[in-house]
Formats: sequence, structure tokens, C-alpha cells
Amino acid sequence: MAKFYVTTPIYYVNDVPHIGHAYTTIAADVLARYHRLKGDTVFFLTGTDEHGQKIEEAATKAGKTPKAFVDGVVPAFKEAWKLLDISHDQFIRTTDKQHESAVQALIKVVHDKGDIYLGDYEGKYCSGCEQFYLERELVEGKCPVHKKEVKTIKEPSYFFRLSNYQDKLLAHYRAHPGFIAPQFRQDEFINRVKEGLKDLSISRTSVAWGIPFPIGKGHVVYVWFDALTNYISALGWPDAKGDFKTFWPADAHLVGKEIAWFHCVIWPAMLMSAGIELPRQVYAHGWLTIEGQKMSKSLGNFITAKDLVARFGTDASRYFLLYNIPFGHDGDFSEAELVKHVNADLADAYGNLLSRVLTLVEKNFAGEWPAMGELTEHEQDIETAANALGPHVENALDALEFHKALDHIFTFVRLVNKYMTDTTPWKITDKKRLGTVLYTILESMRVATHYLTPFIPQTAAKAAAQLGQSVTSLEEAHFDHTTTGNVKKSEVLQKKLDVKKQEHPFAKLNLRVAHVLDVMPHPEADKLYVLKINVGIEERTLVAGLRAYYQPEELRGKHIIIVANMKPAKLRGVVSQGMLLAADKDGKVKVLEAKDAEPGAPVTIDGVRPGTGQVGIDDVVAAKLTTKLKRVVVDGQQLVTPLGHVEVDIDDGATIR
Ligand code: MSP
Repeated sequence: MAKFYVTTPIYYVNDVPHIGHAYTTIAADVLARYHRLKGDTVFFLTGTDEHGQKIEEAATKAGKTPKAFVDGVVPAFKEAWKLLDISHDQFIRTTDKQHESAVQALIKVVHDKGDIYLGDYEGKYCSGCEQFYLERELVEGKCPVHKKEVKTIKEPSYFFRLSNYQDKLLAHYRAHPGFIAPQFRQDEFINRVKEGLKDLSISRTSVAWGIPFPIGKGHVVYVWFDALTNYISALGWPDAKGDFKTFWPADAHLVGKEIAWFHCVIWPAMLMSAGIELPRQVYAHGWLTIEGQKMSKSLGNFITAKDLVARFGTDASRYFLLYNIPFGHDGDFSEAELVKHVNADLADAYGNLLSRVLTLVEKNFAGEWPAMGELTEHEQDIETAANALGPHVENALDALEFHKALDHIFTFVRLVNKYMTDTTPWKITDKKRLGTVLYTILESMRVATHYLTPFIPQTAAKAAAQLGQSVTSLEEAHFDHTTTGNVKKSEVLQKKLDVKKQEHPFAKLNLRVAHVLDVMPHPEADKLYVLKINVGIEERTLVAGLRAYYQPEELRGKHIIIVANMKPAKLRGVVSQGMLLAADKDGKVKVLEAKDAEPGAPVTIDGVRPGTGQVGIDDVVAAKLTTKLKRVVVDGQQLVTPLGHVEVDIDDGATIR
């Protein structure tokens, strides 16, 4: 029996799990599930990367200790993977004790080898990348990835003699042509390594949040040296028995192209130094754009893993990400494309075919699989195609060509659809012949369902149950003549998705930041204030029922959020041009604030851009009562994480900072 060890990168916890993280993780999950179905002993590892300057900074910003901060974020990753039905065997955190001691042990081994020395480092550091850049790599003096200022850092540092490994790495690449995949990346790295390798700084004194460097006092381990070690620490290394013995070397490290250098150059050099076998393959996949644009919070096209599943469902999301983007290349995520393909493939070709055949089996054979009679050329063609599916799909999956594997499966499913249309079983009166035709379709569905299981596990399990079958091993995935069972038609496999973008309840509202210039009591109403506000380009008057909750001086100077496109309304004789947002919990009312934002800045909620045109009070009420305010972005900055219903359920004291 073979073993198969697959990994994802461990994700930084300064971000919420999003569609980019989901993409790698789904790909790894499909491989893990495929190998389990082949009967391999599988170990599938994912987890979180929790040390380093970037996390330290994020924690400070959140007003938390790094440990409290990371502990607060990790559950979101675990939840996301549950929603996407990810079947990892272990979720590693770099703050796990076992991992920390493995990193220290690895440093000692590499040090004993003579590959670590103390020096001084001066360089331009981007904490976003957790990486030093050479002057020539900067773009207009800024980080080429984050386009942010880099910091000049000079400090004593331990170095890893990466330069020792240039020739050894090149020799390894040559001897193992599939080590870096796809092929074009291997070519790229060979060229880059040929240009020369500089020793790598692997300790920091300016960062406190990290694993103590086991040799020099006051140093912590550089976050990438720490992170890469997860792939062996998770297996119990330095204990060379147990899981390490069973599963190492990794069969596939899946990584995004931007971190391939660390995995294809630095990680193998670390392992060579420590005398540990190298992984079999590092597969660098491409990057996703969203509707043709780079995903970013300020563009409002940011898709969290949770949003993805909520909008399209687990299997439709899994299917589309792998179907539409050839693994290894960049690709686009577009809602219209997703809806089109999910409807055509999962709902129509697969789901509808199943439903039609089951109806006929229930009607004509009381739900029992009919016997296969004499085969005509028609059935023989289907049988041949069904039996060719295995090698096609397996070859594609062994090469991590997920889109090709899916293409083979759906080409076959379409062929079966055509067979049904051509043979018109609903018109056949000869029961024996009818049985043969229906059997052929049922058996084809059974085979296809086996191969779909790694991709769309929930849908495939439903299909198998309705067919009266189970999916346990790919050994069963060939066209048999003697399958028996009882079908049970139940729920639709894949509901048709709607192309129309669901109108977000906030979509009509134009929310803007306003500066409160002055607050006066309303002359005619003792519950109301009249506010003078500045909305960037103009000053306005706004009436608000806040007198029971605030003194005028408490409101003056605040940066609040208003609905700026409301039809002006007269409130007890004073015209109010807009309405402010406040949170109400148990009778405690608080206005929402956007402290650091400029007056007039648009506020994006749930990625929905500010609406245009005038709205009335009904629109505002509808939006507030039905929408969860999850993220508020002002001028590109994310301001708020989960709140609750605005004016209904908001956490007391929660402000928008
Ligand atoms: N912590 C490091 C990895 C250490 S591995 C020893 C890291 N983390 S990360 O949170 O930034 O995640 C990077 C991974 O997320 C990428 O390698 C890629 O798998 C995935 N993606 C993030 N954004 C992406 C897209 N827009 N598109 C596709 N995948 C991307 O780097």
C-alpha cells in the first residue's frame, strides 16, 4: 500500500480566510480524498503561521497580546475548512509546543553542520512579505508586492549558508525533473539559482514574537525558517519514527507562486543541511483574480471563504475553483462563470440525468436496479468510455491537472446524457431492453460518482445514496454487468444557481463619514438634536433622536457615519438631510464612529459599493433590519469585524475605529 503526504502552506493569521487560501486548500483536499479512495495511507496537513513581525504588528493594532490575537483568529480558519468540507488529518499551529521545539532542534542540527554563523544584517525589510529586498528589487523604493514603504533594518543576525547549496540544488533539480512543477517554474528557478544564492538571515533581534533562537540570546527565529519546518514537525520530527517514518518525504507541497522560492530553494537547502530527504514535489499554482481584478479590500471585491460557501454552497465552490482555473496558471473567479458552469455541469448534466433515470427506474422497476441484458453497440460505447474514465482521471490527478480530470468526467456524463436522448427509454416498451438501457445509465452514474467524490464529496454522497450504492474505493469504479441495488429518489443534487446578483440590502445606501461641527437642541422636540455636519464637500443639517443618550459636547467633533443619499425630510419643522447610524443594544444607544476617516469618505459594507440615487426611510429600515454589518471599509481601510445587526444587535461599546 502506498502512502501519500500532501500539504498546504500554513496561512498567516493576520487575515481572514479568503478565496485564495480556500483555493490551495481545496486542491490539497481533492488530492487527499483521491488518494484515500485509491487505498493509499494519506496524511493531509494544513495550519496557521503565527509568528513574526507582521502578526506582532497586527496584534498591537488590535490592542491584544500576540498570543491572544492568534488564538482569536485561528478558529476562523478551522471554521472555514469545515464549511468547505476539508478533510485534513492535522491542523498545525506554529505556536504548538512540539513545533517550537522541532524548529529549535533543526537549528541545532544545521548549526552543528557548520551552516549557521553570526553576522550583521542591514537591509530593506517588508513586514508584509516577512522578507528582505535588494535595492534593485524595490519598485520606486517600495515593496514590489505590497507597494508599501520598506523599513531599513540593521541588526546582528544569524545567517544560514544558503550559498553552500547552489550547486547541490541545481544538481537536485536536474536529477528530479518533476521536483518543481509546473515545468516552467522549474526552468525559472534553475535560472534564478544559477545567478547565485546569498546567505539567508534567519534570526531577528528587533522582533519579540517568535521562537527563541536556541543559540544566541535575544534572537528569535526568522518566521520563514520557523514556518517551513512545520512540514516535518507535524510528523513528530526530530523523532524519526512514527508518522515521520511513515509519511516523509512529502509527496506534494502545494503553494502559491509567490512563495514558491521559499519552498523550492530555501526549504530544500535547509533539509539538505540537516541530512533530511527532500520532498518529492513542490507544486506552485497561480493566482486568482476576482472578476478580472486583483482581490483587495478597498476594491470591495474581497471574498472570504465563508462568503463563498454562503453564496454558492460547498461543492459548487469547490467544483468551480478547480474546473475553471488550470492549476499552475493564474485564473479568474467570476460569479457569472461559476453560475453558468455549475448549472450546466452539476445541475443539468449530472443532477438532472440522475433524477430522470431514477424516475424511470422507480416507475418501471419499483426502484430496483434492472438486470443488464444484451448489449448493443450503443451500450458497448458507453462501457468503453466508462472504463477509459479511470486512466484519464487518474493521469490528470497524478499530474495535478484538476481541470482536465473534471473535463474528462463531464465529457463522459454528457455522453451518457446523449445516450439517454438517443435511446429514448421513456418510449421503450420491451421491458428487457428498457432494463438494459436504464442499467447502462445507472452503472455509468455509479462510475462517474466515484470519480466526482474527491471534488464534490457531499453531492457525490447524495448521488450514491440515491443510486443505492456506496463509494469506498476506486477499485469499484469500472463498468460492471451485475451491479444490484435499490434506488431512492430524493432531493435535487444541485439546485440551479441564479445568475442575477442578489441585491444587497445596503446596495442602495450611500454611506459616508461626516464630521459633527455643532449640536443644538431641536427647538420643537425634546428628544431631538439638530446637528451641523461636514460631509466632505458640503455642510448639512441633520436631525437625530439622541438627546436621551448624549450631551452635545460628547457628539461634537465625532466622525460619524450617515446615510448621505436620503430624501430630505422635515422633522418637526427642521429639514434633516440624512440619517446617522447608531447601534442599539438593550436600550443603550451608540453612534457608529469612523475615527480616523476623512469627512466624505465612502463607507463600504460587505464589499458593496455606496449606492447612488435617493432613498427613503423604507430603504433604510429594510437595510438595517436585514443586514449583518460585518466589515466596514473606509478609504480602503478595514474598520470593523463582526458586529451584528446595526441598530439592533450590535455589541455594546463596539465602535468603528
Ligand atoms: N505563511 C506563509 C506561508 C508559509 S508556508 C510554510 C504565507 N501565508 S499566506 O497567508 O499569505 O498564504 C499564502 C497562500 O495563500 C498562497 O501560497 C496561496 O496558496 C494562497 N493565496 C493567497 N491569495 C491568493 C490568491 N489571490 N490566489 C490564489 N492563491 C492565493 O504566505
